[in-house]
Amino acid sequence: MRHLSVPSRETQSILCQLKAAAALPEGARVRADPTDENRRLIPVIDSATVDLLTHYPVIHVDSPPPSPRSYRDHLNNFLSQEIIESVDWPTRHEFVGDLILIKLDTSQREYGDAIGQALLNQHKRTRAVFEDKGVTGDFRVRDLNLLAVREGFSPTTRTKIVESGQELWTDPSSVYYSSRLSHEREGTLECAKRIREHLGRPISVCDPYAGVGPSLLPLVKESGLLGESFAGDLNPKAVEFLHENIGTEKFTIECVDARTLQSTDSLREKFDLLLVNIPHDAIQHIPDLLPLLREGGVVRGWAIIEDEDFEAATNSLTKSLGKDVEIEVRRSYSATANLCRFESQIYR
Ligand SMILES: C[S@@+](CC[C@H](N)C(=O)[O-])C[C@H]1O[C@@H](n2cnc3c(N)ncnc32)[C@H](O)[C@@H]1O
Repeated sequence: MRHLSVPSRETQSILCQLKAAAALPEGARVRADPTDENRRLIPVIDSATVDLLTHYPVIHVDSPPPSPRSYRDHLNNFLSQEIIESVDWPTRHEFVGDLILIKLDTSQREYGDAIGQALLNQHKRTRAVFEDKGVTGDFRVRDLNLLAVREGFSPTTRTKIVESGQELWTDPSSVYYSSRLSHEREGTLECAKRIREHLGRPISVCDPYAGVGPSLLPLVKESGLLGESFAGDLNPKAVEFLHENIGTEKFTIECVDARTLQSTDSLREKFDLLLVNIPHDAIQHIPDLLPLLREGGVVRGWAIIEDEDFEAATNSLTKSLGKDVEIEVRRSYSATANLCRFESQIYR
């Protein structure tokens, strides 16, 4: 392909001129000029007739092959063209720390190893690839099957994730964690700061369904925000991660059924902010949790509500939390249900 050899310092302005003249090929890549370290090579399409072609040396070099844009571009290293063309390859996968989790249907599963290896080729920072066979049980953990692991590395499902600039350890095969709710967690930090401002002192927070602690970590890191607080989960593995991720003297951490906390005297009427992150059961659990709140304390929670149950759910939450409860649809959960957030009014 024709390339213009241009002085390095003029590269940007010449690129702009070529672009304006529609003379750049799709995905044009600027390269070093192997004959002169102070010059760059810019590709130009064959039909271009711009003036620049007469001002700068034009040389012919082979264009480098386009970089692979998806794991599918690596499948030919492992599978025949015939197979590649006969399968409907998965188009989505999820990154969890240095792992990739991917859902496969029956026809894709047969080529799981090749999919795993191709994903490792495409994503250099990924350590291992697992088939995600779905979420199971009350602890909402993933059933994972190893597809590929980078040579010399461990196939463990334990991994470190970074959320809002902070590091957390998790293991999708034994504890719940989803990055999809990270935006909600940013809102929790803002909510906690508003309560502190209103009260003029550090606040006590109760997160009885804390998982590995993603809602609490930003609160811990915010200087002067937290007073004595509580984090719990019924899953013993999650509690181990809580100690590792947010274990500070500020927190009491326990492996306990949230609904039984009200029977512990030292926790009753103790908290300024109660988080209720158990979306499938929130509405049923709320009455058992309210005794943990101080007078005027704030509840912030999430519930999956079927469209046809929305009014009944609103009535139930209003009855439990008072008429000022705000319920907001946050995103669609299924064809007939939404994930909703509810928050009782900040202190009056
Ligand atoms: C939807 S997850 C939320 C986890 C965490 N708050 C987050 O945002 O990642 C719900 C958590 O509640 C825990 N759980 C389920 N039933 C519980 C119960 N009765 N009491 C306390 N924790 C429970 C599960 O183990 C899970 O970690």
